[in-house]
Amino acid sequence: MPDIASTQTPAHVRHGSNIGQPLTRRDGMLKVTGAARYAADHHPPGMLYAVLAVSSIARGRVAFLDVAAAKAHPGVVEVITPANRPPLAQDPDEKPDPITFRLDLLQSDRVRYAGQPIAVVIAETLETATEGVSLLAPRYQIEPARVGLDATESFLPAVVGPGFPAQAHRGDVEAELATARKTITETYETPAQYHNPMEPHAIVAAWEGDTLSIDTPSQGLAMAKLRLAGLFGLAPDKIHIRSPFLGGGFGCKGLMSGPQVLGAIAARVVGRPVKLVLRREQMFGPVGHRGPTRQTLRLGTDGDGALVALDHHTKTVSSTFDDFFEPASDISHTLYASTAIATSYEAVRADVGTPLFMRAPGEASGSIALESAIDEMAQVWAMDPLAFRLKNYAEVEPISGKPFSSKALRECYRQGAERFGWERRPLAPRQMRDRDGLLVGWGMGTATFPAFMFAAQAKAVLRRDGSGVMETGAHDMGQGAWTALAQIAADGLGLDIDQLEFRSGNSDLPDAGIAGGSSHTATAGMAIHDAGANVITRLADLATNDQRSSLYGAGNAGVIARGGRLFRRDDTSRSESYADILGRAGLDQIEGRGTSGAANPMEAHAQSDYAMHAHGAVFAEVKVDPDLGQTRVTRLVGAFAAGRIINPRMVQSQFYGGMIWGVSFALHEQAIMDRHCGRAMNANLAEYRIPVNADVPSVEAILVDEHDPHVNALGIKGVGEMGITGTAGAVANAVWHATGIRVRKFPITLDCLIEPQ
Ligand code: MOS
Repeated sequence: MPDIASTQTPAHVRHGSNIGQPLTRRDGMLKVTGAARYAADHHPPGMLYAVLAVSSIARGRVAFLDVAAAKAHPGVVEVITPANRPPLAQDPDEKPDPITFRLDLLQSDRVRYAGQPIAVVIAETLETATEGVSLLAPRYQIEPARVGLDATESFLPAVVGPGFPAQAHRGDVEAELATARKTITETYETPAQYHNPMEPHAIVAAWEGDTLSIDTPSQGLAMAKLRLAGLFGLAPDKIHIRSPFLGGGFGCKGLMSGPQVLGAIAARVVGRPVKLVLRREQMFGPVGHRGPTRQTLRLGTDGDGALVALDHHTKTVSSTFDDFFEPASDISHTLYASTAIATSYEAVRADVGTPLFMRAPGEASGSIALESAIDEMAQVWAMDPLAFRLKNYAEVEPISGKPFSSKALRECYRQGAERFGWERRPLAPRQMRDRDGLLVGWGMGTATFPAFMFAAQAKAVLRRDGSGVMETGAHDMGQGAWTALAQIAADGLGLDIDQLEFRSGNSDLPDAGIAGGSSHTATAGMAIHDAGANVITRLADLATNDQRSSLYGAGNAGVIARGGRLFRRDDTSRSESYADILGRAGLDQIEGRGTSGAANPMEAHAQSDYAMHAHGAVFAEVKVDPDLGQTRVTRLVGAFAAGRIINPRMVQSQFYGGMIWGVSFALHEQAIMDRHCGRAMNANLAEYRIPVNADVPSVEAILVDEHDPHVNALGIKGVGEMGITGTAGAVANAVWHATGIRVRKFPITLDCLIEPQ
């Protein structure tokens, strides 16, 4: 059995009654008892089943579909193809901004990637609909598929990721490289990866006139509502999306996907509720993935081993019809203090579904390359990799020159190394063996992730009976948002958590932003905090202006709220219950609204005087079979500083998940594309390898105490994605330390480690 345990009491700082406490999940009981209803669990009366027919070719045209045969099949109600798909109010190929994802909604017979929806069959049962799909027996005009990093001629993308500049530099990298004492140039490759949440995209859609009600998983309810409103030409308030639980998201549920919209179209066409659930292999196409990269790093140091040049160039792939470029080079903006830094990109277009953000988009893929290159430079200097990082980590953010929390990073290095026992690491590779003769290696990597905030709103109500309600349309994809946000809400209203009703997970509630970019706790949490503060301010006004109150004259700033009472700040023996204050004022309740974040978080980041990031350091032990090349990670220790920890139990769990993904990135995960037909050959959970329990070692996540007053008033940073960064490189570096073999194409598979006899 894997031993996932925390060995150190987490940074257990009691901030209020609730924040900082390791509460268990509010939705845990619902989930373990099966009472939690996921999208596909819904079954409204009269519901029909829709099944997608998807293209088996990557490029060409659909020449023929046997619609008559499918329609003649008993139980089939309707077949939707480009020939009869009702018109939409918006062209699904329109792209008004960089984060609109172009959709395939049967707009033509053109095939742009394998797995593209080409028809929808709607029937009385799932089985009949599936049979109907096979009866369509498509014929294609096939054009040769263009696959992978060398598919077509490359070009310079204008922006990468969700709209970052594709070129950036500080200083003159070429000049520094020309005069550097030692230089290395190495190229690393990362594969395409596909999001595989336990719950695939699913939708149950029902129309009543012009009102659309749907159950579907979403990491961004407000954006999803706007997208559907645009496509169907409806006012946004006609769209109601319920998404109380997600069985994982990882980015692929951040934007409304084509198959989900097709479910809503299907329901409209047949005038009955419709359920559409993607089959696992259908996840490998229309719902995004992590684009593959080929990254070239050029590093130069002065005569003391201090970095003077860091050049990070990424080549990646987008689809032929949309732009998303894995922003892998950008990690080099933030970690190491090089005199000169340059980042750049080039891209090709291939016959593949459009890539999209996937957990730590750019940071994960960039980190494994950068951490490998840093290790290789340490090796050139015959320096311990930790000592080399301590010499070169950035005190201020190198690309912008802005201050950031480098002290916390230093502490992560210290605590992680100490816990791991790093000082006993021999410098040279291939020095350690275990009792069974397996090669043992130790490696490390630095973790980092930006502290983003999006715009959000919340509404709070305090009732005369002393209870409270907090509403925000937040998203719990498994990370514990319900729990952490309820903790912030309870403290914001000065209530015990049992007195608080926390409403979340549907699009009728105030916009909670997107559960993405590891920003959800900060974004939704600050809106909640603000709504709570507004309610308490009004309550304090009532009390402190009333001569009958024991708080009279204390002034608004002179009271604190806790446990359903207001206390005088200077004399906590004087207090009054919320119920008494409201009762005397003759009010049943007080309402308040809160907001947070900026409309454009990237602009807000750029304009800030501070560079805002979370940091960490990860240490890994691997064992490699010298004869078979089989590699196992046997120990992982991460130390992370991510601002204020709202719930240490949830946060550790996030880091475990991220670190396990880091193992996956280094050793397991890749979509293998067939070069001839352009299909993923391993579009299933058996052959698309991710770590199973047997692959997961003892994982420790140390929470390093950090107070960063600049990120937001509560000092919250994100934890969802950072654990992958650092870890992937640490594992790769440990493999080198075990074997002396430097593998630069990920994942590292055993064939790379078998030595020629
Ligand atoms: Mo994450 S890729 O920001 O959902």
